[in-house]
Amino acid sequence: MAGSGEQEALVGNKQVIFKDFVSGFPKESDMFVTNGTVKLKLPEGSRAVLVKNLYLSCDPYMRNLMKPQDANYGSLFTCYTPGSPVSGSGVAKVLESGHPDIKEGDLVWGVTTWEEYSVIKAPETLTKIRHTDVPFSYYTGILVVPGLTAYAGFYEVCSPKKGEYVCVLCSGCCWSACWAIHKVDLLKNKLGFDEAFNYKEEHDLNEALKRYFPEGIDIYFENVGGKMLDAVLLNMRIHGRIAVCGMISQYNIDKPEGVSNLMNIVYKRVRVEGFAVLDYLHQYSKFLDTVIPLHQRWKDNICRGYCRGSGERSCCPGRTL
Ligand SMILES: NC(=O)c1ccc[n+]([C@@H]2O[C@H](COP(=O)([O-])OP(=O)(O)OC[C@H]3O[C@@H](n4cnc5c(N)ncnc54)[C@H](OP(=O)(O)O)[C@@H]3O)[C@@H](O)[C@H]2O)c1
Repeated sequence: MAGSGEQEALVGNKQVIFKDFVSGFPKESDMFVTNGTVKLKLPEGSRAVLVKNLYLSCDPYMRNLMKPQDANYGSLFTCYTPGSPVSGSGVAKVLESGHPDIKEGDLVWGVTTWEEYSVIKAPETLTKIRHTDVPFSYYTGILVVPGLTAYAGFYEVCSPKKGEYVCVLCSGCCWSACWAIHKVDLLKNKLGFDEAFNYKEEHDLNEALKRYFPEGIDIYFENVGGKMLDAVLLNMRIHGRIAVCGMISQYNIDKPEGVSNLMNIVYKRVRVEGFAVLDYLHQYSKFLDTVIPLHQRWKDNICRGYCRGSGERSCCPGRTL
């Protein structure tokens, strides 16, 4: 029988459980909440880290983990296990640590679980938060994977040169769907982009791109795939570059759409390069050195969105559940 000390250390631990593999758009019923318990004490000699989760991020890649494992994922993804809690990126406070470099009270970001308290068995995947003069929620968005992805994809993969025409489709990381009408206004009038458009209002994407890029596109930061990629291919300039970051339009459909205009890669001698942020983690401190001063300069223009299970969709910086 457990002693009274052990009994006292048990606390409630709400978890979000992934029910089963998903087809089409995920629904609330694809997950459920359980009220479990957890002991707030690590076993003797453990090298794990016990944390209280503060912010959890809901990211597009997680949709791919809701499908049965695909051999093509390689080592990039491991799909969720039905009946187990959802995992994802988050911000947490350390309650106890068996790892020499992580101490009680530290704030960390990294892969955690959708629950109140987690025991993280691979603490080397956590990064200590050193800049604490920014909202911690930014460590689910602009200051972590989404921000680093944009930084590495743009500067390393796209190799931009002054005067080039750059097209970024799918303006995630900053705005949510419920802001769609305001996104264009924000991008153009507050953030200084030359042009912006709402893809949902354009019936002919090729015509829209010709309107916004009459000279064509040198650099395309690909996040969307499908029809959007097909339209962009028609509008690339000679020796253009396409950094393939993701294809969000394909994640909720069972059979990926075909792309018809691939010969333009040959006609225009376009370089197409896929990349994964995991290959750029070594640039994280250089990225922070760039982005923290930018945050100071632009903080009044950063839109923060939160979701507390209210049904309101949100975005980063700061995607909170
Ligand atoms: N390669 C990597 O290592 C890496 C790392 C992180 C992210 N990514 C990829 O980067 C992309 C963006 O991720 P994020 O974290 O920025 O996502 P996010 O913050 O959740 O934003 C997603 C955005 O996609 C837009 N969107 C959804 N469906 C679309 C469609 N069919 N056509 C055009 N836009 C669409 C949404 O706008 P509306 O709601 O208005 O439609 C929203 O603004 C995803 O493709 C993701 O897989 C890749």
